[in-house]
Amino acid sequence: MRLEELKETLAEASQVFVLTDANVAMYWLPELEHWLGCEHAVEIVVKAGERYKTLGTVQRIWKALLKHNADRNAVLVNLGGGTVTDMGGFAASCYQRGIRFVNVPTTLLAMVDASIGGKNGVDFVGCKNQIGTFAEPIEVMVNPIFLSTLPDRELLSGIAEMVKYGFVADEDLLDVSEDNYEQYILRAGEIKKDIVEQDYRDLGKRHVLNFGHTIGHALEAYSLTTETPLTHGEAVALGMWCALWLSVQLCDLNESALIDYEQRLPSLLSEAEVNLGIGDIEAIMSYLDHDKKNRDGQTSFVLLKAVEKPVLDQHVTESLVTEALLEMMKLVRTL
Ligand SMILES: NC(=O)c1ccc[n+]([C@@H]2O[C@H](COP(=O)([O-])OP(=O)(O)OC[C@H]3O[C@@H](n4cnc5c(N)ncnc54)[C@H](O)[C@@H]3O)[C@@H](O)[C@H]2O)c1
Repeated sequence: MRLEELKETLAEASQVFVLTDANVAMYWLPELEHWLGCEHAVEIVVKAGERYKTLGTVQRIWKALLKHNADRNAVLVNLGGGTVTDMGGFAASCYQRGIRFVNVPTTLLAMVDASIGGKNGVDFVGCKNQIGTFAEPIEVMVNPIFLSTLPDRELLSGIAEMVKYGFVADEDLLDVSEDNYEQYILRAGEIKKDIVEQDYRDLGKRHVLNFGHTIGHALEAYSLTTETPLTHGEAVALGMWCALWLSVQLCDLNESALIDYEQRLPSLLSEAEVNLGIGDIEAIMSYLDHDKKNRDGQTSFVLLKAVEKPVLDQHVTESLVTEALLEMMKLVRTL
């Protein structure tokens, strides 16, 4: 859909609501409303960050929609990073059994991943994305101009997800860095779309996108309970190291892939405070137990037999996962 068409759709809606978080509102809310010609939209501003990706926040969104008598012909525009697009998509897809929504990603991670593919949701009882829906936005509006205000740490978080595409789909993306990421945004989005088209409901092929996420999600969820939370991308960057290490042990991945990635890891973690030690293992493992990738009592991983050659649904024993975590922690202490 071209911008003009989107503006027309919004003009024809009974009402337009713009959901965003407090940080993004400060930089981009008036600009976006101006670009979309919806200066009279009802603004719903929520607190920023993963901690607030909860049913409690979604209830606030629903209450705001109700208060303004939103009907089935209303449109919700989600302006923000993956937290906002995940939560807004979920809120819209449930409100009155589903109203239309538009995603306007403002982080690199949301541009190349979270805003695409129709997965929406919130964290629940401390576990990532446990409650959610599949529902597609009517449009995803990607504009790198939003990245001009994005903190470096968040940019690196998006680069980590782009590196993931490098491992599972197109090795060119292993070269993405802070200097060249803009030229890869389109390609990364295409990879995500292509994978999603083959398996929208995430029953098989789409699992490939979980590379680095099995341990990554557990690290992210656990770190949220500490003084030093990791970004999604930082947790995934560590999770990818563990997945590569496991791939060397179990899938004959050439060790050079792991060693090369170890050269990348310090830059991906350059803004992170990683305070993990042996005392954290039990708690991290308990988050793995809750993870939805955990089936039949064993944890299921996406591993690699080579770069661009992922192997899905690899069951790994608890003791080997623990070993991978300990090795990762040892490495991080040396960075
Ligand atoms: N649905 C999916 O397929 C999918 C895929 C990957 C990740 N995700 C989810 O995405 C979330 C992570 O998304 P994220 O990394 O975008 O985090 P985020 O939405 O929490 O944004 C990170 C921080 O950057 C700020 N911010 C956003 N845009 C900004 C801008 N342009 N300028 C200044 N500050 C800005 C936000 O306020 C926030 O503080 C996680 O919850 C993850 O589970 C979903």
